[in-house]
Amino acid sequence: MDVETLLTTTRTVRRKLDLDRAVPIEVIEDSLRIAQQAPAAGNLLSALRWVIVRDAGLRAKIAPIVRGAAATIMPQREQLTEEQNRVMNSARHLLDNLERVPVLAIPCLPGPPPQGHVYQTSYYGSAYPAIWSFQLALRIHGLGSSMCAYHLIDKEPEVSALLGIPSDVSQITMLAVAYTTQTDFQPAVRPPAEEITYIDSWNRRP
Ligand SMILES: Cc1cc2nc3c(=O)[nH]c(=O)nc-3n(C[C@H](O)[C@H](O)[C@H](O)COP(=O)(O)O)c2cc1C
Repeated sequence: MDVETLLTTTRTVRRKLDLDRAVPIEVIEDSLRIAQQAPAAGNLLSALRWVIVRDAGLRAKIAPIVRGAAATIMPQREQLTEEQNRVMNSARHLLDNLERVPVLAIPCLPGPPPQGHVYQTSYYGSAYPAIWSFQLALRIHGLGSSMCAYHLIDKEPEVSALLGIPSDVSQITMLAVAYTTQTDFQPAVRPPAEEITYIDSWNRRP
């Protein structure tokens, strides 16, 4: 796959995750090897840790916690546009099947998240390039992923306790990871670059 295709067609996959196909740990390890090359703020360069959950018993305990947290914030259908409803239904489908997803991947940083814009930018910005590299690397191996981190609303300690994650370590997100049942993903409909680009002054378009 060429780089542009990889970057433009790596989608959030929820309904097309193959819940019946096991994921070898080697595939996860190789994707993390690639993700380790992502940039991070100097003081956090070696701080990222990944907890990879494969054990079915643990997944069965984590899934209801995430679902329960999601239920507290899921908007009502009538409040949403058609497209928002499509995404929401897809998110609900993943939540309903979360314990069946073969791998849950949780990137963590020393916590708690700092106060102050510049420090928060560096903090989360030291995880998300690696998270996205991980998602791209999974794609190369024929896998897909979706973030599914509703437990961070107020149930993070419950999931941390299950996994032995120390209380001074923050989960940044949780990714549901599996092989995909299709491979021909398409670019999403997004505003064209010229609509979102300002040159030299706010709102001055190219
Ligand atoms: C920071 C971040 C958090 C997200 N959290 C969730 C989540 O908790 N649940 C979920 O189903 N999708 C989550 N997503 C996926 C988005 O909903 C998804 O990117 C969006 O539906 C657009 O689809 P696409 O990635 O295929 O373009 C998250 C994405 C990002 C970047």
